[in-house]
Amino acid sequence: MQIRLETTKDEAEIFMLNQAAFSSTSESLLINRLRQKHKLSISLVVEVGGRVVGHIAFSPVTIIRGKQTLAHGIGLAPVAVLPDLQKQGIGSALIYEGIRICTEKKAGFIVVLGDPNYYNRFGFMPASKYRLSDTFGGGDAFQILTLDPATLPDLGGTVHYVSEFDDL
Ligand SMILES: CC(C)(COP(=O)(O)OP(=O)(O)OC[C@H]1O[C@@H](n2cnc3c(N)ncnc32)[C@H](O)[C@@H]1OP(=O)(O)O)[C@@H](O)C(=O)NCCC(=O)NCCS
Repeated sequence: MQIRLETTKDEAEIFMLNQAAFSSTSESLLINRLRQKHKLSISLVVEVGGRVVGHIAFSPVTIIRGKQTLAHGIGLAPVAVLPDLQKQGIGSALIYEGIRICTEKKAGFIVVLGDPNYYNRFGFMPASKYRLSDTFGGGDAFQILTLDPATLPDLGGTVHYVSEFDDL
């Protein structure tokens, strides 16, 4: 199993594996929009035997309160593994590698909208703990992994994903 940054040659396989994992083209189309607008901060694939079997994307997010932009961070979305190969640790490997790269890039925090039972193993916790909410009404599913606590505004705010997420 090899984890590496996506290349142009992977684009069709990334589209198909997200479509298979989500039973929809919504996430695949989101990834295409992010790529076209150069908003894929990190895009990693897992390759097994020359085949792309997993993918994870990260894009910029901002914390806004009132009209003020208070902080910049990274949003994890989406992550997908081919259905036949799920529950073998591939998703976890992608998430750990993504977190490692975000740390290397000195990102202050990573947010994710997903099942807390899955993401808490990586250190994510409800973003409400830091008075942060999202624009999708995610509630407890909206979680944060703080890499540098100093980047978070004391009074919290609303975390905005880039506009390419509006059509999801
Ligand atoms: C979510 C996903 C990427 C995880 O990849 P994976 O390779 O199956 O994950 P891992 O093998 O590393 O981890 C498996 C563990 O996660 C759990 N898990 C997987 N998906 C989960 C989910 N959506 N909610 C809660 N737990 C989940 C499994 O039950 C298993 O738990 P265990 O370790 O206690 O047995 C994969 O299941 C997938 O592609 N799902 C469809 C797309 C999706 O929902 N993506 C996430 C939202 S962006």
